Amino acid sequence: MGTINGGAVVNIFLNTLGLFDGRLRTHGEHVGYILYKMLEFDDTYSFDERRIFLVLGALHDFAAYKTDKIDDLLSYDLKDVWPHSVYGYFYMQYLSPFADYARIFLLHHLNHAKLDALKPPHQDVIEMVRLADSIDLMIYHGQYSEVNMVRQLGPHIAGSYVKLFLTANAHYHIIENIMDDTYRQELDILTESIDWEQGVADQLLKTLVYTIDFKNESTVLRTLNANAMCEYLADKMKLTPDEKSDLQYASLVYDLGMLGVPDSVLNAPRRLTPSERELVEGHVNAVEKILKPHVSDGILQIAIRHHERLDGLGYPRGLKEKDLSLPQRILAAADVMAALQTDKEYKPALGKQDVIRALLREVKEHKLGMDIVRVIERNYDELMNTVKQQGADLYGNYLTVKQSFPSVLQQFQQI
Ligand SMILES: [Fe+2]
Ligand SMILES: [Fe+2]
Ligand SMILES: [Fe+2]
Repeated sequence: MGTINGGAVVNIFLNTLGLFDGRLRTHGEHVGYILYKMLEFDDTYSFDERRIFLVLGALHDFAAYKTDKIDDLLSYDLKDVWPHSVYGYFYMQYLSPFADYARIFLLHHLNHAKLDALKPPHQDVIEMVRLADSIDLMIYHGQYSEVNMVRQLGPHIAGSYVKLFLTANAHYHIIENIMDDTYRQELDILTESIDWEQGVADQLLKTLVYTIDFKNESTVLRTLNANAMCEYLADKMKLTPDEKSDLQYASLVYDLGMLGVPDSVLNAPRRLTPSERELVEGHVNAVEKILKPHVSDGILQIAIRHHERLDGLGYPRGLKEKDLSLPQRILAAADVMAALQTDKEYKPALGKQDVIRALLREVKEHKLGMDIVRVIERNYDELMNTVKQQGADLYGNYLTVKQSFPSVLQQFQQI
C-alpha cells in the first residue's frame, strides 16, 4: 500500500526547501549533522531521540522561506533573527508532531547567558544548534578553523559545548566530512533508518504542506479542500484501499512545486505572460523532482498528472483520457474545484451554482470526467460540509498563528 515513511518525508521536506534555495537545504543538513555527531559522542540521548534532533536541526531555519532573504540568513550579522525563529516555533507548535521541541526553533539564535536566564526545556540541544549554526556559517564563509571558532564563539556559547564539539570533531572528523561531502552518505543512512510510527510521518508531511501553504490564506484552504474532496470522492467512487491511500498522499503534496514560483507571479491579478505561464507550469516537474524516488509510482503519477486533461491539452505531457486513471482524474477535478471554491485576493470564491456550472463546462469541453463531476453535483452539500469540517481545525490554527505572530515577535525582539 502506498504510504510515505518517516525517512521519505524528511527527504521530501529537504527537497522542497532546496527548491526554494539550495543553500537553505545544505545549511540545514550541515547543522543537523553537526548536532547529531555531538549528541552521538555525548551519548545522553537515545538513538531515536538523536534522529529526531537530527531532523529538527536540519529544519531549524525552514521558516526562513517565508520571512528572510537567504543571503541575509547566511551572513554573520543577521539583523533580525526573530521572524524565522517565531514562525518556525509556531509551525512546530501548532502543526507538527514535535510540539514538545518547538522552543528549539524559537530560541536557536540566543546566546548562552540569555538561554541560561530562560532555562528552556532542551537547553542543551538549543545551545548545540546555536553552535552548529555558527560553525556552518564559518565554513560557508571559508573562515572555519578551531582557533577562529573558539575565539569567535567562546563569548557566546558555554565552554562545555565548545569542548564537546572539539572532542567529537577530533573523533569523527565532522568538519572534514562536511568539507568533502561524505557526511551526506551518513545522513542518508540515518534518515533512511528512521522508523517513526506512520502517524508521526504523516503529521510531519502535513507540517510541510501546510507551512508552505501558509504563504497566504487562499493557498492553505486550497490544498486542504482538494485533499478533503479527494477523500470524499474516493469513498463515493469506490476506489480500492490502495488507490485511496495513493490519492490521499498525492492530494497533499501535488502542488509543493509551487514554492519555486515567485509570489509576484502566483498572485498576479491579470493574465500571465507566456514566460510567467511557463514558470507556473514548471511546478509539476518540480514536484516530480521533490517526490522522486521517495514515494511509490502510484502516488507520483497521481501528483504529476493533476494538470493533464481528457482532451490531451493539459500539461506537462498532454496525456489523454485513456492514459489517465480514475484517481488521477479525481485529483485533477478536485484541484479545479478547490480553485473555484477558494477566495483569491483578487477574485472572490464562486457559490454552489457557479461552481457546478463551471465544472459542467469543463466536462463539455472534454477536460474533466463526467463521472466525477456528476458525483460532485449530486452530493455537493454533503461534500462541502465534509470539506469545511475537516478544514476547521487547521484554519483555526492558521488564524491563531496569523493573529499571534506580531505580538510574539515584538515580545522577543525586546529580549
Ligand atoms: Fe536561524
Ligand atoms: Fe541557521
Ligand atoms: Fe498544480
